[in-house]
Formats: sequence, structure tokens, C-alpha cells
Amino acid sequence: IKLLKKLEKQRMQELAAKEQPEKEEEQKEDKGRHYTLSVALPGSILNNAQSLELRTYLAGQIARACAIFCVDEIIVFDEHGEDAKSVEGEFSGIGKKGKACVQLARILQYLECPQYLRKSFFPKHEDLQFAGLLNPLDSPHHMRVDEDSQYREGVVLDRPTKPGRGSFVNCGMRKEVRIDKQLDPGLRVTVRLEEPQNPDSKVRQGTVVSSHHPRTASGLYWGYSVRLASCLSAVFSECPFKEGYDLSIGTSERGCSVDQASLPSFRHALVVFGGLQGLEAGVDADPNLEVTDPSVLFDFYLNTCPSQGSRTIRTEEALLISLSSLRPHIEEAVKTPRDSQGKEKP
Ligand SMILES: C[S@@+](CC[C@H](N)C(=O)[O-])C[C@H]1O[C@@H](n2cnc3c(N)ncnc32)[C@H](O)[C@@H]1O
Repeated sequence: IKLLKKLEKQRMQELAAKEQPEKEEEQKEDKGRHYTLSVALPGSILNNAQSLELRTYLAGQIARACAIFCVDEIIVFDEHGEDAKSVEGEFSGIGKKGKACVQLARILQYLECPQYLRKSFFPKHEDLQFAGLLNPLDSPHHMRVDEDSQYREGVVLDRPTKPGRGSFVNCGMRKEVRIDKQLDPGLRVTVRLEEPQNPDSKVRQGTVVSSHHPRTASGLYWGYSVRLASCLSAVFSECPFKEGYDLSIGTSERGCSVDQASLPSFRHALVVFGGLQGLEAGVDADPNLEVTDPSVLFDFYLNTCPSQGSRTIRTEEALLISLSSLRPHIEEAVKTPRDSQGKEKP
């Protein structure tokens, strides 16, 4: 019996040793990105542009900068804090100043939406009068009709189907896609296309997945969401991630040099920009904030362009400069291995 037990133990040890490389292989194959990057900026920056054409172009620059650096969430906040007394419920700061926030948010959303879905989600609106002329984001979820892809964005069609037989979705392909779930028409969905496909079938088969699935499962950049915040404090208090932002960075020419920064590992990072008067304006106008110095709101307060040659760097320029200079620091910070749930590994 002793010998049998010893042999069994030996066998278990051998099996465990064999399993180890497989587990390591699995880890290597995890191509997902398990962190997010959010950017917040005041809608008032549109007020510095003189015409609707220039306002639109400025919004396009913000959208392109965020797509280039794989930003997952853009928060447009009202730095005048018009609606600051109530941070709950729907955004209602659509006064003269609030209009810039809504207009910026609308153009950002329009550009994020794949071209073939825009008709379904964006009825004619004066804010979008020149948006069709803007440079496209050209991000991985903006598919061309014959492009092959594991995932696609789509809209659920108003087409009757038998109960239990799912719904039809327009994913911008020649064939429609039948998804596994019955969903309300008009809903925007992310679909994983099933392989192998049957070339003789009139429809393709797909499964509905969450919009962050392409990022977490395959590391694909899948566009950004847009959120309105009625004041600077609401950027933090209305965070959509239940754990909140675990790394916050304020940007200012009065911050510490980005060159010396060493960022800790994080799951949800937030980078905040000010408008014409800097982040101070947002802090002063927000009755929820008792501080006067914006630097105390953030884990890091960084000057991302030390020795700048122009007296002021505009917010749209600061966005490109900051995301570019933060990129290596972010890459370094997220090197810490994490499991599929994003938890740090011991
Ligand atoms: C026009 S600037 C604001 C200038 C304003 N006079 C001030 O003193 O902050 C707009 C925004 O761009 C960003 N910015 C400008 N220069 C920066 C720098 N050197 N480093 C980091 N961010 C900067 C900040 O977010 C700033 O609030």
C-alpha cells in the first residue's frame, strides 16, 4: 500500500509538472487587454472655435487623438458646473455653455459609430452638419463591407423571427447575421461571427458579446464610449467602473515633469485636461469640491511637455502630447501580469 501511495504521488507530481507548461502556454496566449484608459476634458474648448466648421474640426481632432491612443472612454465635463448641485440623473446643462458639451459629445459619438450604422443612430442634426467631412477614425471596428473579422458592430433589425430563433442584425456585410438572442430592434450590438461559415447559407451566424469583449479577449481596440459630466467632480463620482478609477492623472504646465513619473499598475486610468483657464476653472466652479488647488484631486499632476516653447498649449494639442508621453509609462505600468479577471498575480 505504501508503494502504491508513493507511485500515485509520483504520478500526480509528474502530471502537475506536465500541466505547468500548458498553463504557461495558456497565459502566453492571453492576447486580451485588461485595463482601460479614460480621458476627461471640458466641452467649453469648442467655444474657442469661431464657426461651426471649426468647432466640428476641433471635435474631430479630439476623436482622432483618442482613437490613435486607444482611449476607451471620453468624459466631456461642464467646467462651469452649471448643474453642479445635482450630480444625479440625466445631464441637463444644455444652457448656452452646456451646449458645447452636448455638441462635442454628439460629434465624438458620431465619429465612433461605424459608417454603416450612422443612419440608424444619428438622425439629421445641426451639430452634425459638417461631421461627414471629418477624417474618419479608421479604427478596427470600422469594417468595410467585405472585410473579414471575428467581431462586428451591428444594429438589430425589425424583422419577425420565431421565438427562440434569435434576431437578425445588420453588421454592414452583404449577408445579414442571425444572432443567438432575441433582442429589441434598433439596439446596437457587438457580434462575434461564427466560424466556419456556410458559403451557401443566406445568413451568417453570430453570438452577441459585450462591447468590451473584443478588447478583453483579443486585445482589439473597439472604440470609445462617451459620457457627459455636469461638473468636474462628477467625472469621478459617476465613473462607470464599479471599482472606480484606480489611477488618476491631472495635466498642467504647473505639474511635475512626466519624465520622472513612475506609474503604478492599474485597471482603470483617467487622464484629465482643462480648458482655456486650466483645471483651476473646473475646481473653482464646482461646489462639490472644497479645494482650490487641482493637484490634490489626482494621484499624479503632470507637466507632459516640459520646456514648452509656446506660452500655452491648447487642450487638443495637450491631448496628443500627453497621451504620447504617457504611453511608455502606461506600458511599463501594465506589464505586471494579471489573470483573465484582471487581478494582479502574486
Ligand atoms: C490652454 S491650456 C490651459 C492654460 C492655462 N493658462 C493654465 O494655466 O493652465 C489647456 C489645458 O492643456 C493642458 N496643458 C497645457 N499645457 C500643458 C503642459 N505643459 N503639460 C500638461 N498639460 C498641459 C492642461 O490640461 C490645460 O488645462
